[in-house]
Amino acid sequence: MKTLKTSLSKKDVLSIADLSAREINSILTLAGKLKREHKSGNARPLLRGKTLGMIFQKPSTRTRVSFEVGMYQLGGEAMYLSASDIQLSRGETIQDTAKTLSLYLDCIMARVYDHKDVQTLADYASIPVINGLSDEFHPCQILADLLTMQEHKKKLKGLSLTWLGDGDNVCNDLMLGCAKTGVSMTVACPKGYEPLEEAVRLARTEGKKTGADIVITEDPTAAAKDADIVVTDTFVSIGKEGERATREATFLPKYQVNSDIMRLAKKDAIFMHCLPAKRGMEVTADVIDGKSSVVWPEAENRLHVQKALLCLIMKAI
Ligand code: CP
Ligand code: NVA
Repeated sequence: MKTLKTSLSKKDVLSIADLSAREINSILTLAGKLKREHKSGNARPLLRGKTLGMIFQKPSTRTRVSFEVGMYQLGGEAMYLSASDIQLSRGETIQDTAKTLSLYLDCIMARVYDHKDVQTLADYASIPVINGLSDEFHPCQILADLLTMQEHKKKLKGLSLTWLGDGDNVCNDLMLGCAKTGVSMTVACPKGYEPLEEAVRLARTEGKKTGADIVITEDPTAAAKDADIVVTDTFVSIGKEGERATREATFLPKYQVNSDIMRLAKKDAIFMHCLPAKRGMEVTADVIDGKSSVVWPEAENRLHVQKALLCLIMKAI
């Protein structure tokens, strides 16, 4: 296993844009290996003596628990730092926080509102910084999604994925992850809810190299046709609660993943969702709890890909 190649002294992962196709592939391969080792009782303490600090401005279930358990399984420690409990809440700057934490920790994972906050942390920390979700990107989720797709479809290149709903943080990074691994992605969303223009542009450039098409449309029916994978996310991301009524009226019923949508996809199509999900909103219960849903393996894979990412950026492998 090669270490992540970087010209810098440390590797920050703030978006899938920070990872080359080769690096993504290394992470997925190592994740598969660590998963098998863990399940067969042969886990190695690759991060013994290392400490991860986890700053959270927003709530989390999966990200917090999978990073904490992941560090524990690798023989290291993880420390939960609620942004409201540390001096950040009293006005200490992100710059000074980054410099201080770099004196004690080996790696920082941060979940923030404004993407600039995690960028500033990375700029001022001398240790690697991982984005555990910002308003714009969610790279760890996408690594788990790619591993899940690979496990269920036995390949990535040549697959076709359809995203229905909000062109949000998960969608932005999923486009980049798909484009870099040769998965064509169609995003069906209402006007005004498209993914970031910059992410679309970058994904299209990457897609040219791998043969992946990146399409943005308002038509969910055309988008779902013959898809290998159908994906959605909440219509109301953290921080958008004030827009709930407008969003629900805009997205429903047209952009809901239901059995009619799944019937348009391939017979063996899988359904993915990063969770948490709202049944009856972005997805119906029969789909998320049905045969084509892989949301639980997808959630489990957060643990395995993050362990691989931590090992690679802390140069334990
Ligand atoms: N998918 C995900 O990131 O879940 P949490 O918000 O629970 O961490
Ligand atoms: N788009 C969602 C993802 C949650 C994991 C949010 O930002 O709330």
